[in-house]
Amino acid sequence: MSRTLIRNGLVITASDEIGTDVLIEDEKVVALGTSDGWTADTVIDATGKYVIPGGVDAHTHMELPFGGTFASDTFETGTRAAAWGGTTTIVDFAVQSVGGTLREGLDAWHAKAEGNCAIDYAFHMIMGDVTEGSLKEMETLIGEGITSFKLFMAYPGVFYSDDGKILRALQKGAETGGLIMMHAENGIAIDVLVEQALARGNTDPKYHGVVRHALLEAEATNRAIKLAQVAGSPLYIVHLSAIEALAEVTRARDEGLNVFAETCPQYLYLSTDDLARPGFEGAKYVCSTPLRPEEHQAALWKGLRTDDLSVVSTDHCPFCFKGQKELGLGDFSKIPNGLPGVETRMDLLHQAVLDGHIGRRRWIEIACATPARMFGLYPRKGTIAPGSDADVVIYDPAATQVLSAETHHMNVDYSPYEGRTITGKAQTVLSRGRVIIDNGEYLGSAGHGRFLRRETCQTLR
Ligand code: URP
Ligand code: ZN
Ligand code: ZN
Repeated sequence: MSRTLIRNGLVITASDEIGTDVLIEDEKVVALGTSDGWTADTVIDATGKYVIPGGVDAHTHMELPFGGTFASDTFETGTRAAAWGGTTTIVDFAVQSVGGTLREGLDAWHAKAEGNCAIDYAFHMIMGDVTEGSLKEMETLIGEGITSFKLFMAYPGVFYSDDGKILRALQKGAETGGLIMMHAENGIAIDVLVEQALARGNTDPKYHGVVRHALLEAEATNRAIKLAQVAGSPLYIVHLSAIEALAEVTRARDEGLNVFAETCPQYLYLSTDDLARPGFEGAKYVCSTPLRPEEHQAALWKGLRTDDLSVVSTDHCPFCFKGQKELGLGDFSKIPNGLPGVETRMDLLHQAVLDGHIGRRRWIEIACATPARMFGLYPRKGTIAPGSDADVVIYDPAATQVLSAETHHMNVDYSPYEGRTITGKAQTVLSRGRVIIDNGEYLGSAGHGRFLRRETCQTLR
């Protein structure tokens, strides 16, 4: 048995901030308290540092096939980058293709991830083809720890499901405990606007934001909520970006419905000004839902304070500028959708603590505890308590860093935050008791990360 003692830090969880010591035995936290009399093989001095749970990023897309190419991070490079940024669990999206089964998609994702991950990982399932067969398979997958299913109201001809399919999946979710996650944008209407924009010669990246109108996010969000209400099922809205969509979620929650939503750092820190950068630079900022005008950011921060937004995940889906984003030169609709972010989420949210948007415990709640609860991983992940996995970050709240593609570890040739100075940095990162990052050195290995079977959602009211 190996014992690690973390001394003199400020332990921050979603509920508490306590100056206390943490004792780890092998892969688990076994005690918090005053360490007098405790012996350990390794002692980590955390004086002046925060001791926080490893981040839980509930929305990543390693190697996602999209727009004729693949997201540029593999499970190996993406989970290593996550570790550098203090994230110790990801929940990635396995993909069911049209004509394929959930099983085929899941097996393919297990094959991509197994033996390659630096940190623990779990899967949601993208249902690209809702059929009698795939609805039946949902139950089997839940038994294997895949307890959430993403559907798309966007991307006709690719991942899109019509309202009938969505209703059936929501009904199955209500019956089985599976949580339906919704990409809420009216893809049919968006495609009309895309066609019209291109016909007018509006081909630049900024038109991606124009055609994906905020009202089309709000309309789809409202429709998804109503369909969930009819089905009697909870609902989780992914990557919410528009004030108008947030208003729909807020109203549903005020009515007492089990409707939850996440947003992502890009919607809190970037805007349509970035999409409109000169030349083709705006392509670096193409994702869906799209970035919104800056005034949406204040509403999102407010939503995070009121809990109408309960989770911040990354929607990490990187495509290199050279050769990948460039597929959309001359036609914004061909730019692969997605931004890198798995490495920078914890730090950008710490910056929000310093800027006064959220408090320290709320930082841990939205980035660690609630995503773990929402997706059936709590208290194994998302907190520091006896019995929890020893996924622990010694976080230096005073360290400064400049975000840049030159120094980040994600496999992508640009940073959406190039040149931005951030205060706060993960100094030491433990994954199940093993130090995998220490003072600027990577000590982890591909294959250390294990697949996590998840329980069903633990957040229902
Ligand atoms: O732009 C995005 N979000 N790309 C990834 C796919 C998705 O819709 O989440
Ligand atoms: Zn999506
Ligand atoms: Zn996504």
